[in-house]
Amino acid sequence: MKIIFKRETAYETVFLLLVSFIILSCNRSRNNPGWDYFPDMFYSTAYETNSRNPEFKDGMTMRVPSAGTIPRGFTPFEYTIDPESRIKAGKELVNPISRTDESIQRGETVYSTFCIGCHGIRGEGDGRLYKSGLYPVKPRSLISETAGKLRDGEIYHSITLGFGAMGAHGSQVRADDRWMLVIYIRELQGKVMGITDIKEGENK
Ligand code: HEC
Repeated sequence: MKIIFKRETAYETVFLLLVSFIILSCNRSRNNPGWDYFPDMFYSTAYETNSRNPEFKDGMTMRVPSAGTIPRGFTPFEYTIDPESRIKAGKELVNPISRTDESIQRGETVYSTFCIGCHGIRGEGDGRLYKSGLYPVKPRSLISETAGKLRDGEIYHSITLGFGAMGAHGSQVRADDRWMLVIYIRELQGKVMGITDIKEGENK
């Protein structure tokens, strides 16, 4: 007996097999990836970073650093916004960055980015934001006698946490850049107030 397959029948069979395969591959809940193909490394034996962990009391896999640890190169800044704390910062903090052409230049760049709008090109408190009326509070002069008497740490404190009506810049300006701002402010003061022999680490 000879079985004759018609070409059309063969096409139909392949087509039907294909359609049923596609339909069978569908997954109603979509929460299951279906069959794994080479699952050797798919399932981790270690706990995933954000998964629950029965080994620890708090049930978290990701651990918090031990109390008192700080990242390498990070200096803790444990001051609050009140005036007493600013005075304390002035007494305790020492500018870790030396006054060099590079640090002055970097200070100028950062000043031009973050401060110039309010404090003005020469630090007189006459920035465009204030003069145009967009910002209503008169920014303090950074080259006044009062500002000249501020200690490095007090200026650093004001930049970091803000001062009076001025907002904090600690989250926008890196710590070393804030110290270079202090150096640049001294530079501005020197130009205007004639304090030219500022020695490294000296506060006034
Ligand atoms: C949006 C405007 C604005 C910006 C931007 C701004 N300041 Fe100020 N700043 C002020 C105002 C206003 C005051 C005075 C606040 C007060 O008297 O309540 C002030 C005060 C200060 C003081 C305190 C001066 C003193 O006599 O004690 C310092 C230091 C200072 N600013 C530095 C900076 C530096 C550095 C930057 C850039 C990182 C900066 N400010 C950015 C508005 C601004």
